[in-house]
Amino acid sequence: MAKTTTIFLCQNCGAQFPKWLGKCTTCNEWNTIVEEVTQKEEKREWKQTSSKKRKVVPLSINEITIQKEDRIVTNNNELDRVLGGGLVRGSVILLGGEPGIGKSTLCLQVALTIPKKILYVSGEESQSQIKMRADRLKGVNNNCLILTETNTQNIFKHIEKEQPDVLVIDSIQTLFTDVIDASPGSISQIRETTAELTKFAKETATPVLLIGHINKEGSIAGPKILEHMVDVVLQFEGDRNHTFRILRAQKNRFGSTAELGIYEMQHTGLREVSNPSEVLISDKDDDLSGNAIVATLEGARPLMIEVQALVSTAVYGMPQRSATGYNVKRLNMLLAVLEKRAGFRLGAKDVFLNIAGGIKVDDPAIDLGVVCAILSSNEDEPVPSNMCFAAEVGLAGEIRPVSRIEQRILEAEKLGFEVIVISSYNKIDTGKFGIIVRKISKVDDLVDLLF
Ligand code: TYD
Ligand code: MG
Repeated sequence: MAKTTTIFLCQNCGAQFPKWLGKCTTCNEWNTIVEEVTQKEEKREWKQTSSKKRKVVPLSINEITIQKEDRIVTNNNELDRVLGGGLVRGSVILLGGEPGIGKSTLCLQVALTIPKKILYVSGEESQSQIKMRADRLKGVNNNCLILTETNTQNIFKHIEKEQPDVLVIDSIQTLFTDVIDASPGSISQIRETTAELTKFAKETATPVLLIGHINKEGSIAGPKILEHMVDVVLQFEGDRNHTFRILRAQKNRFGSTAELGIYEMQHTGLREVSNPSEVLISDKDDDLSGNAIVATLEGARPLMIEVQALVSTAVYGMPQRSATGYNVKRLNMLLAVLEKRAGFRLGAKDVFLNIAGGIKVDDPAIDLGVVCAILSSNEDEPVPSNMCFAAEVGLAGEIRPVSRIEQRILEAEKLGFEVIVISSYNKIDTGKFGIIVRKISKVDDLVDLLF
């Protein structure tokens, strides 16, 4: 006879309590503790039926051999790069993002292009709905199986029969296991089903791609432990009205978290944007004041982006400073530098800053471009459209060098810019580039250069 127990779980951090409390003593959140019924029953989750159980013994690190084909390439270049070169065998990948951002589309597209047998388990859509979506996407995979099921025990039965190379779960919040009695989407179900899937992944060396919902704060719904349990946490972002989507790794046990994948949502699904600079710079016929192009880096990849500034006389007593995709504090600092070191009176002006394309940048190399866009808008003088920037601005108004300048210069050259402005402290031979490299050392030099 199953013994029923109830526990109290914090829906925010996953901490367990024997009784209800108004405030979680672990994460200090109010009203997050909910009673959940758990049933301890010997109905075990994933069991490997084959008898080839490995004996595990400690090994010297020098003796450990890595299997040759360690990663499964998905043929989705952006995803492969963010993962660090494909799906690692036995890894569990959690893909989070807002509703309607394209998580299911991305996974289905991967299912259609991956040259492996893949089982796509959906608890959200019917098989015919998925088929309708698949018809709009390109790619055919005869080894793509679609299953609509939410019970993990049943899913494992199908897995044993079909033996897929890759498993996709859409989404973890819809799954439930018979082992415990809580409703799908509750903390204990999410934790238990993820544990079962993780065990399955490790024992069979099958990569598992989990789709996860996010809560209103933007983090993945469920306890933080979920993010600790999996190997890779990917975040799919971008605003829904924009066509661009950005895939980043928040955690990656097998690669860098600095990499970034860019997609464009089209009526035929997600298109990989292999040259993001082209889409992030807006096409325009006339030179407009307040725009400057900067050479930044996202991960290992150089990226040309457009910084837009609008400086206008403040209508209300308190001037407004607002920035989209850029740190407002840093904007205020740069405004203070311009005021103090270059003599621009911006104290009574509203300053709005925007990074085009809806992306967020924290590379200091865009400082010079920000300063330039602000000055250009303030003076109502366009920045020459063949010019771009890559340097940091210091508190003394000095132009500071930035890392990997050569890559930035080459990207600017590739995109047809004629002049790039960098710091004179960047030790680099400027003669070898096909683009003119202008070196400056103070903000004043920039003013001379532009106006
Ligand atoms: P979806 O993958 O269902 O989002 P999620 O699983 O993250 O909730 O994506 C749904 C959105 O994508 C929907 O608003 C329509 C859009 N979309 C396209 O624009 N083109 C397409 O080919 C597809 C399949 C979806
Ligand atoms: Mg979905």
